[in-house]
Amino acid sequence: MNPNYYPAIFKRKSFHLFRNVGSAEITKEELDGIQAAYDSCERLYTDIRTAIRIVPAKKVSFRPDAEYCILIYSEKKDNYLMNAGYIGEQLDLHLVSNNIGSLWFGIGKPDKKTCDGLDFVIMIAIRKIEDESLFRNDMFRAKRKPLEETWEGDTLGVAEIARFSPSACNSQPWFVRNDGNSITVFRYRQSGIQRMLPAAVIAKYFNRIDIGIYLCILEICMAEKKIEFTRELHIDTGDDKTEYSKVAVYKLK
Ligand SMILES: Cc1cc2nc3c(=O)[nH]c(=O)nc-3n(C[C@H](O)[C@H](O)[C@H](O)COP(=O)(O)O)c2cc1C
Repeated sequence: MNPNYYPAIFKRKSFHLFRNVGSAEITKEELDGIQAAYDSCERLYTDIRTAIRIVPAKKVSFRPDAEYCILIYSEKKDNYLMNAGYIGEQLDLHLVSNNIGSLWFGIGKPDKKTCDGLDFVIMIAIRKIEDESLFRNDMFRAKRKPLEETWEGDTLGVAEIARFSPSACNSQPWFVRNDGNSITVFRYRQSGIQRMLPAAVIAKYFNRIDIGIYLCILEICMAEKKIEFTRELHIDTGDDKTEYSKVAVYKLK
């Protein structure tokens, strides 16, 4: 995973609204750069076909304040949502690195539900941010669960950063156990929490994307700390009632 994205983890934030961010437009070169970042990004599964379309935001429901939306499409195979989250977060960090503000936009409605036989998964709304100080200045002030609720065992200097990964409704559906030899990542579903979207939709759909986002950020942190590993992925077979679904094991070298 590209450690160059590490500083962007600290700088990124969701632009829930693109208000007072200036009128600069995203250039043709920047659009080509997003496509190139997508083409070269790492995949969890190379056998799951994916595609992106970058469309003017006015074509997409509910997002008139953004300039474009990046629509992610995928073949529907086991763990395709996790794979899409992993790819999309690399795009998110590429955008931030280029002063383009972003928002994972789960409730956005696409103009086209399919692309080259692939199904729409999720979109990211984007807009150029003229004033860089509008990005996050102090990530550690962002609202998140306490570290000990997300990680058990030695934190390796990565747990305290990875916990700031974005997630739908800030649900943070991850739990990690480090036993000294390997790091096991679970999709964790906390019951009894009221959110804007129905809990089952979040657990079945968005939290699987969130987990891919988390794995992306975790791996960037491990690359930064020069922690070597081999990764083993597990099919997330859990339903919306399952509390812990094992999704990845990183064997430490
Ligand atoms: C998969 C996913 C879907 C999201 N959907 C929406 C959305 O529809 N509307 C919105 O305002 N924020 C959405 N968000 C943004 C989250 O609310 C945000 O990431 C979370 O509150 C943490 O804040 P931060 O990204 O500023 O660190 C989404 C995030 C993710 C990862």
